[in-house]
Amino acid sequence: MKHDFSMSLDQAMTTQRAIRRVTDEPIEDALLLEIIHLGTKAPNSMNAQKWEFIIVRDETVKQQLGKMNSGMWKLARPSLAKKAEKDPGFAKVFKATDWGVEHFVDYPAMIVACYKGGRLGWPVLQAASNYGSVFPAIQNMMLAARAVGLGTNLATMPLWNNRKARKILGVPASHTPCVMITLGWPQGGYGPTTRKPVGDVVSLDRYGNRPWQGKEVDEIGG
Ligand SMILES: Cc1cc2nc3c(=O)[nH]c(=O)nc-3n(C[C@H](O)[C@H](O)[C@H](O)COP(=O)(O)O)c2cc1C
Repeated sequence: MKHDFSMSLDQAMTTQRAIRRVTDEPIEDALLLEIIHLGTKAPNSMNAQKWEFIIVRDETVKQQLGKMNSGMWKLARPSLAKKAEKDPGFAKVFKATDWGVEHFVDYPAMIVACYKGGRLGWPVLQAASNYGSVFPAIQNMMLAARAVGLGTNLATMPLWNNRKARKILGVPASHTPCVMITLGWPQGGYGPTTRKPVGDVVSLDRYGNRPWQGKEVDEIGG
């Protein structure tokens, strides 16, 4: 591969975060294809590789997806604004999302991931297997992008109306656009991310048995 993806996995994973503020500097095709290539190394159900990726650069397509994004944000925004007033941590995500919605068309490139199958729902196993065949590839791409210094953000709002999303992107009715990432060269820095201590989200053997409650990973011995 032409680009250097050799950043340590630990560094990539601990500093990869939602980067919404990016410059308008272009991203070359070869780099995007290398990132997608690394994405396709991800696990997927039965190795059926039921995925398709669309690189979006076209202004009209960006504008149309941006309209869907802002439409959904307008609906969700009032209740989330109330939450942001009470929760300073969430207020940062809220503000950043606001910014991302406003500047959606300015991202130099986007990658839309489609599942090669229909609408996903019940039973959970089917939904998990289908969506779960696309999201690991997207996470691989986000880590690969981080390794070369690109910023990404995962978004589902711009695709909320599947019928419209398919029309905008020319995707056949047999496929489902599920998730997308925006990409760009960051205006600022990366991580670290803010997450709960690992002990607060892990149970042992049975849900709710939390021997490591309140502990960060470095505080857990043996
Ligand atoms: C399933 C999913 C859907 C998301 N949808 C959107 C979205 O539509 N718009 C957006 O700006 N961010 C979206 N995000 C990004 C999250 O806001 C972001 O990952 C989260 O706040 C953590 O950010 P951090 O890694 O910088 O801490 C989504 C993330 C996930 C995992």
